[in-house]
Amino acid sequence: MRLSSEEEAILAGEQGETRARMLEILIALGKVYGAERLIPIRSAQVSGASFKTIGRYGLEWLQQLDARVAVPTVLNPVGMDRERWQEMGIDPGFARAQEEVIAAYRKLGLALECTCTPYYLYVTQYGDHLAWSESSAVVYANSVIGARTNREGGPGALAAAIMGRTPEYGLHLVSQRRPEIVVRVEGGASLSDPALFGALGYHVGKLVGGRIPLFEGISPRRDNLKALGAAMAASGAVALFHVAGITPEARIFSFSTGDLEVITVEGKEIETIMEEIPVEAVALGCPHCSPQELGTIARLLEGKVTKIPCYVFAARGVIERHRDDVAVIEASGARVFADTCMVVSPAMERFRAIMVNSGKAFSYVPGMCGAAVRLGTTEECIGVATGETTGRSGKNR
Ligand code: F3S
Repeated sequence: MRLSSEEEAILAGEQGETRARMLEILIALGKVYGAERLIPIRSAQVSGASFKTIGRYGLEWLQQLDARVAVPTVLNPVGMDRERWQEMGIDPGFARAQEEVIAAYRKLGLALECTCTPYYLYVTQYGDHLAWSESSAVVYANSVIGARTNREGGPGALAAAIMGRTPEYGLHLVSQRRPEIVVRVEGGASLSDPALFGALGYHVGKLVGGRIPLFEGISPRRDNLKALGAAMAASGAVALFHVAGITPEARIFSFSTGDLEVITVEGKEIETIMEEIPVEAVALGCPHCSPQELGTIARLLEGKVTKIPCYVFAARGVIERHRDDVAVIEASGARVFADTCMVVSPAMERFRAIMVNSGKAFSYVPGMCGAAVRLGTTEECIGVATGETTGRSGKNR
C-alpha cells in the first residue's frame, strides 16, 4: 500500500501508541483485500457495543485505547435503555458492565446515540465514503443512500473512526458495486408492509449469499427497503442491493445485467415464512423505527391496551422528536426503549416465543435470545399484542 508521509509518521509512533496500532489494523485489512491506499471517510458507525456481545475481554481492549475519533462516529445499540434499564428488567451487574463499555467509548469521543439507524440523525449523502459496521446500517447506506462502505468489523470501524480513513477496496470502488444476480419477484407489486419485505429479504438472502442482487418487480418505499436489506444482511451476507427504478445506482448498472443469473421468487414462498405460533411478547423496531414507523404503531395502538409485553425500539433522537407518538404507544402499556434492541439486550431472553415484524430479527432471535420467533406484519403484531387477533388469519382469541 502507498502511505502518505503523515501516515508513515503515525506508523512510527509520532502520534501515540494507539493511533499507530489503529493504522496497523487498517493497513493489514488493506493488504488482505488488495487496497492501494487509504481514503478519507465522512463518518463511522461502530458495533460491538452491547456487553452481551463484547464481553469482559472486549471491554478491557477498549479501555486501554488512548485516542479520540477523527470523524463523527455513532455507537451501535447497547444491551439496555441507558435511562430505563431497570424497567427492562436488566440485572444490575449487567448494567454496571454496560456502563463501563459506554464510558470507554465516550472517552474515545463516540456519539452515544446507540443506534443502528444513524442515517435518521446525521446527514449521509450519495457518494460519501463511510466505515460502518452494523450490517443493516451498511446495506441501507450502500443501497438506499448510495454511500460507500464495506461491512466493517467492530475493531476495523473503530480504527477507521480514530484515523478518519479506511482502505480503498470492495464497495468503495464503483467497479465492485455492480449487480451479480437478478431477482425477479412474481406478484411483488402487492408487497406493502416492512414484514413482507423482511420475509422476502430473509428468503433471498439465503439464495444469494454475499452476491449483489438487482431486484425487479417490486416497488418498496424507504422503510421497506430498510427491512429488505436488513433481512438479506442477516440471512445472507448482502451489503448492497439494487432495485430497478428505485435505488440510486440501479440505473447506472441496469444496461449490464444481460449475462447475469436470474432467479424468480414467488409470493407464496414468502408467505410460508410467516407461520403462526403462540408468542409471549411482541418486539418492533429492528432496525430501529423510523419516524413513520413510530407513527404507524401509534395509530394502531391508539385507545387500546396491550395484553402481553410489547416493546418498540428506536434511536433516542427519533424518540425525543416524536414524543406524541411515543405517548400514545406507551398509554397502551407498550414500551418504547432507546439505545438497545430485542437482539442485543438480555431483556428478551426471558420469553419463550417472540413475535416480530422484521426479517432480520426473525433470523437472529432464535440464536441470540434462545426463543422461538414468529414473523407478522406490523398490524398483525399489534393485533396479537392487544389480544384482538391471533394474526394473519384474523381469528379472534
Ligand atoms: Fe438494529 Fe438490533 Fe436489529 S442492532 S438491525 S435493531 S438486531
